[in-house]
Amino acid sequence: MTFRFLQNTISRAYSCSVQRVTLIPGDGIGPEISKAVQKIFSAAEVPIEWEIVDVSPVRRHDGKVGISQSVINSLNTNRVGLKGPLMTPICKGHCSMNLELRKELNLYANVRPCRSLEGYRTLYDNVDVVTIRENTEGEYSGIEHLIVDGVVQSIKLITEKASTRVAKYAFQYARDNNRKKVTVVHKANIMRLSDGLFLRCVRSVAQHYPEIQFEEVYLDTVCLSMAQHPDQFDVLVMPNLYGDILSDLCAGLVGGIGLTPSGNMGLNGALFESVHGTAPDIAGKDLANPTALLLSSVMMLRHMKLGLFADRIERAALETIKEGLCLTGDLGGKAKCSEFVSAICTKLSNGCKQALRSLPN
Ligand SMILES: NC(=O)c1ccc[n+]([C@@H]2O[C@H](COP(=O)([O-])OP(=O)(O)OC[C@H]3O[C@@H](n4cnc5c(N)ncnc54)[C@H](O)[C@@H]3O)[C@@H](O)[C@H]2O)c1
Repeated sequence: MTFRFLQNTISRAYSCSVQRVTLIPGDGIGPEISKAVQKIFSAAEVPIEWEIVDVSPVRRHDGKVGISQSVINSLNTNRVGLKGPLMTPICKGHCSMNLELRKELNLYANVRPCRSLEGYRTLYDNVDVVTIRENTEGEYSGIEHLIVDGVVQSIKLITEKASTRVAKYAFQYARDNNRKKVTVVHKANIMRLSDGLFLRCVRSVAQHYPEIQFEEVYLDTVCLSMAQHPDQFDVLVMPNLYGDILSDLCAGLVGGIGLTPSGNMGLNGALFESVHGTAPDIAGKDLANPTALLLSSVMMLRHMKLGLFADRIERAALETIKEGLCLTGDLGGKAKCSEFVSAICTKLSNGCKQALRSLPN
């Protein structure tokens, strides 16, 4: 039997129809790490077809600069997408395309699991937390005014609807994933109206999940405790800005943004993305670590009910990291991105052969 035949036999064992996924390679290292994921998906024979789109800002018919309608149509049709990092100019130029995507697609909850990786040592070896961040409003509503020269105002918008929606997502996530506790992170002692409303909404949802422990902790206390005893946290839910900062802090505990996946859950679909930026300093040099985007794609496969493929790819990636023989520079190794990808593909092929040997004759 040829190797291709063996792989086909295993793929048929998973038997599922081909689903289409929107792929936004992004800027900087985005295209390199997107190609890495595509290569690994081909090696694992994942039954998906990529629809590659470009989110460079365009001037729309209303005169505003933003994402093209074709990108929005692709995501609305496919209802699932994978996205590399996007460059955002600071203090000038077009607004953040990430924000545009979140608003256009109503991606209301950002989910970031941060787990210590076996074999990759950091200061902490017991981290297993999931941050769930409100993704559409709060401090990132984009409502800013110049009142007079030298005085600006930025509005933090909190609504009952969006707060309740993300709270429900967090508790349901905890229930579905066998998690024990949800912590709401807030500063309602200072921002009594805005964070107060967010807190009240989460409290109200918590009542419907009596089996899940619920606690309320101030943002500053969470930061302190996270650095001292991260194992006391499980699932955390919070407004937008706190989530942005706290999720990066958690990523730092487990080895950095090159390893952390994320998913943006919406009303009409989901968009999965690496949490790091475009890394302009290493773009085009075959030095990027594709793990964050790859683990985001693993989250995506589970969301698409392709868990068997997700498990195989995740195992191959984590074993490669655990062995420590072929690591990219950010993880202390000397391997190129392409070498790391080849090591994962080899593990997938070996796993495929082993699985076939264990099949009954
Ligand atoms: N989700 C997103 O699209 C997103 C997130 C953050 C930043 N950005 C954008 O990215 C650009 C650069 O931002 P930045 O420099 O602050 O952050 P960055 O994440 O791009 O880089 C920070 C450091 O981490 C390294 N790094 C990041 N990802 C890596 C990877 N996968 N493998 C190896 N090393 C990696 C970089 O080389 C750099 O040294 C900005 O335009 C910013 O707006 C986009």
